[in-house]
Amino acid sequence: MSERWAVIVHGGAKTIPEARRERHRQGCLRAVEAGAEVLRSGGSAVDAVEAAVRALEDDPTFNAGRGSVTNADGEVECDAAIMDGSDLSVGGVAAVRTLRHPISVACSMLPERPVLLVADGAERFARDHGAEFCAPEDLIAPHDDDPGCDTVGCVALDVSGDIAAGTSTGGLRDCAPGRVGDSPLPGCGLYADSAIGGVSLSGEGESIIRTTLAARLIQALETDTPGPAIDHALAVLERVGGEAGLIVIDHRGRVDWGHNSDHFAVAHASRDEPARAFLQRSEDRRKT
Ligand code: GLY
Repeated sequence: MSERWAVIVHGGAKTIPEARRERHRQGCLRAVEAGAEVLRSGGSAVDAVEAAVRALEDDPTFNAGRGSVTNADGEVECDAAIMDGSDLSVGGVAAVRTLRHPISVACSMLPERPVLLVADGAERFARDHGAEFCAPEDLIAPHDDDPGCDTVGCVALDVSGDIAAGTSTGGLRDCAPGRVGDSPLPGCGLYADSAIGGVSLSGEGESIIRTTLAARLIQALETDTPGPAIDHALAVLERVGGEAGLIVIDHRGRVDWGHNSDHFAVAHASRDEPARAFLQRSEDRRKT
């Protein structure tokens, strides 16, 4: 056991209007503290990711859970996933409309054979596993002057050396009904392998899927430190265009993040560093 732990969360890659910036910082800080509390007391990376993402899903500032945007039919459809890097198990749900915490249903799927359940099938699974339900309207928050798109996510490393990654999103505003983005797809919106690292992404789902960006980032982490691996992934994304933000913890506990969007709300904490929140990578002086 290394006793070292670390956690990083994000609240979405996008342009954050001035009036909403403090809410993004505070929301990320609350979420990272929720994850850190689990890890400090010896809890698992999976439990830390679930706790942090639930906090983000509870906060209408973010486009996930209670803050979700609506599709072209004016309906909410949420996606979420979690990956346990200790055994490469994955649980994901997509196009769900009545789950209070999509990330928790994704967690319930970790021991199951299916990797991804969608729509009615996912909601039936959730009912059978005692999930919390709500009316679809309860998940929709007005985003006023915020583009209100994109994803939240978390990566955590626990004291046993296990890494987990998670994502949750209300998708893209006015997207086609039934459209699923990168967030619930392993190798696209997230990936975790405790021998290498964990990553969680945010941004334009179609671009991230077309470049299998989480897979590229994990592959780069096999030979590079997080900073150059993130630069490599963002360079790959340039081939198709699109905005993205990426958070990383590698197997040695190095925490880093990057983005090509104007802003990317992030907070991180570790055994050695207190929780801090940022809106742009240039505010965070560390280098990995
Ligand atoms: N990154 C979220 C989505 O495209 O659905």
